[in-house]
Amino acid sequence: MLTPENMTIVKAAKSDGVELAMLNDEKESLSLGGLPEGFEEAGCLLDRSSGFSRSLCISHLFELHGVPVVNSHFAQKICGDKVACSAVLAKSGVPTPKVLVAFSAQAALSAVEEMGYPCVIKPPVGSWGRMVCKITDKHAAEAVVSLKSTLGGYADKVYYIQEFVDKPGRDIRVFLIGDEIVFSICRTAKEGAFLTNLSAGGTASGFALTEEMEEAVHKVGGIMGSGIYGIDLIEGKDGGFYVLEVNHAPEFSKSAGAGIGKVAEKIVQFAVSCMKK
Ligand SMILES: Nc1ncnc2c1ncn2[C@@H]1O[C@H](COP(=O)(O)OP(=O)(O)O)[C@@H](O)[C@H]1O
Ligand SMILES: [Mg+2]
Repeated sequence: MLTPENMTIVKAAKSDGVELAMLNDEKESLSLGGLPEGFEEAGCLLDRSSGFSRSLCISHLFELHGVPVVNSHFAQKICGDKVACSAVLAKSGVPTPKVLVAFSAQAALSAVEEMGYPCVIKPPVGSWGRMVCKITDKHAAEAVVSLKSTLGGYADKVYYIQEFVDKPGRDIRVFLIGDEIVFSICRTAKEGAFLTNLSAGGTASGFALTEEMEEAVHKVGGIMGSGIYGIDLIEGKDGGFYVLEVNHAPEFSKSAGAGIGKVAEKIVQFAVSCMKK
């Protein structure tokens, strides 16, 4: 089943006369001996998969065989993993909340104490605000850390503990394609809620970025490499802002509203501009 975004992208490609072949990662298996049948002559792969693990496998295979991928394997790897992303942002001097990473329950609880309350524990790989927890006291920390250590999946072996930013009930989503900021919105949390994600009941409205925000967004695009990104900013009480995370496969059907068709068109044009010459 195509998502609303992907349906709009297919429609935009057809109306632009762009030849499109689709690879359904839900149904097909891939031979690692080469590119899938029908993709040998592909000029570019626009990766719209909703699964991080699938994207990483497919982008690697296509790049290995000389097909440019939007977004690149590198960008996917960094943006899809909050540990990697926060480290890269911090190293590049982009304002981003402080993060401590721990690898055992005991070290995680000490890290939470060091960070102070409230703080935020979130899965290193995830979206839609799922399992993003505001930790208000020691009891909450113990409960979340105990759950993670008991559940024990790969992502639960890594404890990502982030400084809490006392945001004004909203965060900001910037949609960047290449070097163009296509739109920016703010997402306001439901009354009393912590999460601002639209999937968690947040509501979208237009937002005009400051010059500093625009600069930071372009800097992030430069670090990850020209591509399609949903960059989340969060404002602090001191009037400053932080880059919270960078999404490498951003949705836009809810956030772009009536502009969904225009965004899809720009995505198609961008992918065409990335085709191997
Ligand atoms: N450190 C933080 N301080 C304040 N709010 C946060 C913090 N981290 C996350 N949030 C809130 O939780 C939401 C989801 O967190 P995020 O890191 O973007 O995870 P996801 O990838 O699941 O969207 C954010 O949009 C924001 O509203
Ligand atoms: Mg987010």
